Amino acid sequence: MLTASFLGCALLLPALLVVTVQGYAHCASEDFDTGYARTQTALSGVDNYLLTCESIAKSVSPASQVFFPGSPEFKADMRHWVNSSSEVSACSVRPGTAQDLGLILRELGATHTPFAVKCSGHTSNPGFSSTRGVHIQMSRFNDITVHEKEGTGLNVVGGRLNGVGVGGFVVGGGYSWKTNQYGLTVDTVTAFELVLPNGNIKKVTEEDKDLFFALKGGLNNYGIVTKYTLKTHNQTDVWGVAMGFSGDQVEPAYTALANFLSKPKDHKGAQLGTIAYNNGTISFGMVLFYDAPKPPCDLYDDLVKLPNAEQSIIEGSFMKFVTSLPNPPPVERSYLDSVPVLHYTAPVLKSIIDEIKAWGDKLKEHDNTVALAFGLDPFEADIFTHGAPSAFPPDRSYTVLPSSLFFGWTDKSLDQFFYDNMRALNSALTEKVIKHGQDVKNAAHYPNYAVYGTTLEQLYGANVKRLREIKKQFDPFRIMDLTGGFKI
Ligand SMILES: *[C@@H]1O[C@H](CO)[C@@H](O)[C@H](O)[C@H]1NC(C)=O
Ligand SMILES: *[C@@H]1O[C@H](CO)[C@@H](O)[C@H](O)[C@H]1NC(C)=O
Ligand SMILES: *[C@@H]1O[C@H](CO)[C@@H](O)[C@H](O)[C@H]1NC(C)=O
Repeated sequence: MLTASFLGCALLLPALLVVTVQGYAHCASEDFDTGYARTQTALSGVDNYLLTCESIAKSVSPASQVFFPGSPEFKADMRHWVNSSSEVSACSVRPGTAQDLGLILRELGATHTPFAVKCSGHTSNPGFSSTRGVHIQMSRFNDITVHEKEGTGLNVVGGRLNGVGVGGFVVGGGYSWKTNQYGLTVDTVTAFELVLPNGNIKKVTEEDKDLFFALKGGLNNYGIVTKYTLKTHNQTDVWGVAMGFSGDQVEPAYTALANFLSKPKDHKGAQLGTIAYNNGTISFGMVLFYDAPKPPCDLYDDLVKLPNAEQSIIEGSFMKFVTSLPNPPPVERSYLDSVPVLHYTAPVLKSIIDEIKAWGDKLKEHDNTVALAFGLDPFEADIFTHGAPSAFPPDRSYTVLPSSLFFGWTDKSLDQFFYDNMRALNSALTEKVIKHGQDVKNAAHYPNYAVYGTTLEQLYGANVKRLREIKKQFDPFRIMDLTGGFKI
């Protein structure tokens, strides 16, 4: 088996769709009832955080550095592509070695200092990768080592859009352009190097039954991963097309996509779709991918010839494909959520579009910059057969299409308002999907999309009990609760 190791934060190049985001912050008060925590100003206050920063600066090796407000490094470390995910920390530390990160975690635990762990900062949940305490920026963990083979021509099951990092993407599950062929990214991990909450460094492989299971979807609850070893695959040139539809083109486009998805396909293909609401108007977008220089003759013909507003064909390297896809522009305020769906049929898509349009028109009255989007993640029916049991997905007996719901707006005073509306719209959409005969009541929500407030049961189903037991064993003092995220 060929493998490659990625230090914790290397860009996996490819990543999530136009509508894919995720982070901002609150106190070291952990909210155990709802299973999530934000990090914010704890009682100890900012002065104590500064003392912790200084102490860290003294104890780490020259490979690591601490940055303070006013420096360009500090500014860069605070940044998230969604502004509402940012918080100004007392300092930012860029650990350069796992040993230094261990020292840092010990210091933070001993002083009970809230902290954040950020890789590329793709979360749209306030406080999930930001803090008023000590910000840990993982950007120095950016080496890639290819094992057992020299040269190029290899790929891993990585993220779908340029801009998503490795850290949170992998420990959250990992849907990829290659998932139809190989499963989720967690299904391709052969080893994690983990800095445990007590500061010790541990290599975690399938022999560590519990921890290996927990790290595959269990996010930042068990420590901080500093290295991932992933299976690799030979990579040829690929083919793709990005298409946009507006006005009268929308209905034929989603109907044709639904029809396409209802038939058996070959697993080298992969698709993404986006329903977007902007200023009273619905548009539709799709990206079609094939993992070879050309798709089979008739695979995408019906879709490619649909009347469209824009179309660009991408041929060449996998890297070219991924970097050609449009990245979402930086957004001021935003949340993302997961809306599990079993099949994107035309009636389901029509119901989703009707709801998005109605809610968009209503919300526009409150902030006329509001943007809504629903991201389709079509995957094959057997994707969960590729892996061994993992924290996520909790049930591998059927495929859940994670589907992202995106809200963007500008007025900060409306954050709670938009949060409440997003939860309500998610419930309305879920009801519609159930009315169309799809039993999604207990379907798992994807941790990397889920909005804060999603329950652990919604994310991890029947795995919650085991994950809590593993947590007790490896983080008995709940040090990882000092950082934000869904808390097991
Ligand atoms: C984000 O916030 C910063 C600081 O509050 C501000 O300077 C910037 O203009 C905001 N918007 C974007 C898109 O970065
Ligand atoms: C991958 O490519 C190498 C040559 O670079 C070849 O030896 C190997 O058989 C290929 N593996 C597969 C699974 O095609
Ligand atoms: C929104 O649409 C209205 C017409 O429906 C138009 O007058 C207005 O300029 C648009 N606003 C933006 C920001 O595009």
